[in-house]
Amino acid sequence: MKVPQLSPWIGKEEYKAIKSCFDNNWITEGPKSKEFSLKLLNLIGAKYGVFAPNGTLAIYLGLRAIGVGPGDEVIVPDFTFVASATAVEMIGGTPVFVDVNRKNFQMDISKAEKLISKKTKAIMPVHIYGTICNMDDVLRFAKKYNLMIIEDAAQAIAVHWKGKHAGTFGEVGCFSFFADKTITTAEGGFVVTDDEKIYENLLYLRNQGRIDRGSFIHPAMGYNFRMNDIQNAIGLVQLGKLNEIKKRKEHILGLYRKLFEGLDKITLFEPEEGAEWIPFRVGILYSRAHELMAFLRSKNVEPRTFFYPLHKQPCFSYLKNKKRKNNDSEFPNAVYAYENGICLPAFPTLTDKQVTYVCESIRKFIK
Ligand SMILES: Cc1ncc(COP(=O)(O)O)c(C=O)c1O
Repeated sequence: MKVPQLSPWIGKEEYKAIKSCFDNNWITEGPKSKEFSLKLLNLIGAKYGVFAPNGTLAIYLGLRAIGVGPGDEVIVPDFTFVASATAVEMIGGTPVFVDVNRKNFQMDISKAEKLISKKTKAIMPVHIYGTICNMDDVLRFAKKYNLMIIEDAAQAIAVHWKGKHAGTFGEVGCFSFFADKTITTAEGGFVVTDDEKIYENLLYLRNQGRIDRGSFIHPAMGYNFRMNDIQNAIGLVQLGKLNEIKKRKEHILGLYRKLFEGLDKITLFEPEEGAEWIPFRVGILYSRAHELMAFLRSKNVEPRTFFYPLHKQPCFSYLKNKKRKNNDSEFPNAVYAYENGICLPAFPTLTDKQVTYVCESIRKFIK
């Protein structure tokens, strides 16, 4: 049996939606985008939102729109996808890495205090693996040090902290609709804010420094960060499937839990109390994770490692200096996560048989 790591759930409905763009002869950002945007805002509970071509550029736009710029420092968790930090580099800022907690690998605010400098302008909680950081702690910290909050909610659509949607706690929240996300538009991003001025900045930045289309007068600096109606037509269908996707992912998680019962050497990734969870992948921790992954590959199961810590990334080696050594000893939990973590598939069309096969393969290795 073959078990891929991910597979987007797209089919006839999405195809029909794309066709309707052709039938209506409207393929650039238009009616589908407007409808998708309104529905997303309704789901998220934010006042304003703009699309971006992908999650990375959504974070870039968000940073620019709140005024983070060259020379500014942004606190970013050491354990995240590289784009959280490369977006900071893209605006000319410096990502400053903070370790994560040992339970669910979200940013550990208690370790952020010592990273504050005169240049610290913002903090970026990243809501990882389909759950969310303890936002009470993040808000308290940001208030104490007068920092702006940009939430990387790329993986956190429909995920809540104590009933409030991810991405609505800070100045801006950024989402991704890449093919492995809970809902997808193939590639895509969305930035939300409740602040009218930030929204205006976003509008200028994303559409060539103008609000109105068709005008060649550009009151502000801006670029092209638009999506198109073909992508957003897919998004609308996906949004309609969200509850089903959520249910299916919860079922898959439940099945993994059941099949791992009695396997004491395996620990399942667990969210904080107060945090909702739509499993992005099913994360497990096991002391011989990398050997187990090699075994799973030999059984045609495609596992994924946990993220490689950002402080170890070759692309960020330039950040090491006397003040910030970025040694492993400063990030024990991010290092532990990479060494012990395995992402198992949890995509909506994964069958019970496939989950059973994955768990049986794991049992075979561990015995
Ligand atoms: C935590 C996180 N941040 C940012 C991104 C970047 O999003 P995109 O791939 O849409 O550029 C991703 C995507 O995988 C992500 O998982």
